[in-house]
Amino acid sequence: MVERNERVTKVALDIIDAIQDRLAAHDVTHQEYRAAWAWLMGLAQSGEVPLFLDVFFESIVERNTFDGVAGSEHAMQGPYYLDDHPVLSPPYCLPMRDDEPGDAMVFTGVVEDLGGNGIEGATVDTWQAANDGTYSGFVPDVPRGNLRGILTTAAGGTFRFSTIKPAPYRIPHEGPTGEFLLLTGLHPWRPAHFHFTITADGYKPLTTQIYFRGDEIIDGIGDITNGVKDSLIVDVGQGSDPTVASEHGIGPTYLVADATFALDSA
Ligand SMILES: [Fe+2]
Repeated sequence: MVERNERVTKVALDIIDAIQDRLAAHDVTHQEYRAAWAWLMGLAQSGEVPLFLDVFFESIVERNTFDGVAGSEHAMQGPYYLDDHPVLSPPYCLPMRDDEPGDAMVFTGVVEDLGGNGIEGATVDTWQAANDGTYSGFVPDVPRGNLRGILTTAAGGTFRFSTIKPAPYRIPHEGPTGEFLLLTGLHPWRPAHFHFTITADGYKPLTTQIYFRGDEIIDGIGDITNGVKDSLIVDVGQGSDPTVASEHGIGPTYLVADATFALDSA
């Protein structure tokens, strides 16, 4: 049996109150109310409720939850995480199609504690968009684990994987969410990014994203989800180490980026 919950009562009734206040302030008519009602029904039927909520509300609650905590800054998980990413073996290369479009990139990371000591054996779960801005598992004709993988940090907390540089992407914009963007004059773009969830025994999990300096969306119209934080933007360089190239089966030149992830103790 469901019992009254103080927190739900306080927050949910305040949200209802705020919506009623805005409906009154804008003299919303019954016809407009029915149009919004039909749009919400379409949102539910299209399966875009998680998308719409994450785009407009997740970065707020992510900040409420994690701003000011010790260690690296968090970022929202977003709607494209899957819970069955392939577990990879070194040398780490994210699974990709034979003809995967995009620029080869080698990403190097360090997972450390708040004192700067590397954490060996940490689990690094990463996922990213392909060069056309789509995520595997959400489009037909792409293998489910494509450009997704779980790896483990080596001595010193280091890890390195090869992939293609993620591309900026438009959130799905052909359904009810896209209709909403058109009606409100908003754009659908997110800057290029990697997603990471990093876990290690004795530490709090870190879910974050890594962005790239010079990104046309960050420098231009901005992220539709308002999720970018300065500390999560890294430089992109050029690499040409023959050992790295041959180990990862790429090269001879490739893009490079790196980041340090600091975990707070549990
Ligand atoms: Fe994403």
